[in-house]
Amino acid sequence: MSDPPSSGPDEIALLRAALDRLDAGFRDLPPVETVPPGAQEMERVVLEVAGRLQDNFPYFHPLYAGQMLKPPHPVARLAYALAQWINPNNHALDGGRASSQMEKEAVAEIARMFGWERHLGHLCGGGTMANLEALWVAGRLHGGKAIVASSQAHYTHGRISAVLGLPFESIPCDRRGRMDAGALGDRLARGGVGTVVATMGTTATGSVDPLDEILALRERHGFRLHADAAYGGYFGLADNLAPEARRAFDLLGEADSIVIDPHKHGLQPYGCGCVLFRDPDVGRLHKHDSPYTYFSSKELHLGEISLECSRPGASAVALWATQRLLPLTRGGEFARGLADGRAAALELHGRLAGDPRFAAAFEPELDIVIWIPRAASSAQASERARQLFAEAARRHLHLALAEVPAEFFDLEEAAIRRDGDRITCLRSVLMKPEHRAWIDPIWTILDEAAATASS
Ligand SMILES: Cc1ncc(COP(=O)(O)O)c(C=O)c1O
Repeated sequence: MSDPPSSGPDEIALLRAALDRLDAGFRDLPPVETVPPGAQEMERVVLEVAGRLQDNFPYFHPLYAGQMLKPPHPVARLAYALAQWINPNNHALDGGRASSQMEKEAVAEIARMFGWERHLGHLCGGGTMANLEALWVAGRLHGGKAIVASSQAHYTHGRISAVLGLPFESIPCDRRGRMDAGALGDRLARGGVGTVVATMGTTATGSVDPLDEILALRERHGFRLHADAAYGGYFGLADNLAPEARRAFDLLGEADSIVIDPHKHGLQPYGCGCVLFRDPDVGRLHKHDSPYTYFSSKELHLGEISLECSRPGASAVALWATQRLLPLTRGGEFARGLADGRAAALELHGRLAGDPRFAAAFEPELDIVIWIPRAASSAQASERARQLFAEAARRHLHLALAEVPAEFFDLEEAAIRRDGDRITCLRSVLMKPEHRAWIDPIWTILDEAAATASS
């Protein structure tokens, strides 16, 4: 973790060099006498912090294959740290001129990934804040009408709708965790729906809602379409999607608004979500006066088009640097990393599906795999999943658990008696490119853990 790979940069030395360069830009200022913090006290506290941080799962390691968690790219980490010496605030140009410009450039690049040359968009705290803003705009345009999302959509959509005072309804999913377009059609026919949220990669299983069918329904019923691509938004760049997911990602630019989280698959530190609107004119809804912050320039201040006020300019700096190093292009290194995670998920799924000790669910659409150990009943399979989770963790393989609808598994085919609507399954998010090369070690541990869990 601490040693740079032999061919990689020495990050600490690079940060020193970058700080000297940054410092040079302020050389004309008169020197300031500051009282530096005591070196010994600082060292004591920082080492204490390092000790405290040991109480974590090893998110950076390929054997951490549980939740949607991984450290940022080194260039993002460095750029973020560098920006901390300035601590820009991207609310207004007065608080962060360079970082605001970098945000506009980085966000425009994300918009271009969806085919949008014109857009309105900005960074924010994360997927929840970004969805809040997208649904706030939707609610302003379709006042009083319902927001609907699939039963596998992120739980915050219901909560956000409650905050906005808008009715929220859940649309059932098919057996692969995708919104059931037939059920959506039935609901739309009854009227009163203002906004449909399509999830492009659900949190539990990475399932992709059928955007082609949802768009056909928009033609007939006319509603605002918001795409929650917080998790899956970058996958359009991957070259190994199955045809249905490929079709959905190719249509993503047809949505009215899109949320994508650079702090999930975009290699960024937490605190980096992004909301985009296809029609820049929705910016009129954000209109407010802030004479004490927007006085220095007639150029757009990002706070004029966002719900949040103060925001870390460092997030924009880190994102800009990452996209500079790893452009968002098909066939590029970043795209290959996404494809590697998906290839790892397909490989793990294939092994699970071919092993009589396990029952795998449907083939993953992105890079998330779910499965259960076989048992006499679904309740026993849930219990075994919990045991296997613990046994694997004892061997440094960190998986996740998820409660999902029982119909995600073909229980009849697996000769498992169904004794409830829900089942607790094992879940693995294979979101690090390194996971592809680590499937063998992961499988070896799973094999040993399964032997112990079932004995
Ligand atoms: C599809 C989806 N939407 C929204 C969110 C919420 O994002 P955040 O945790 O960044 O607020 C998540 C989080 O996992 C997600 O997977």
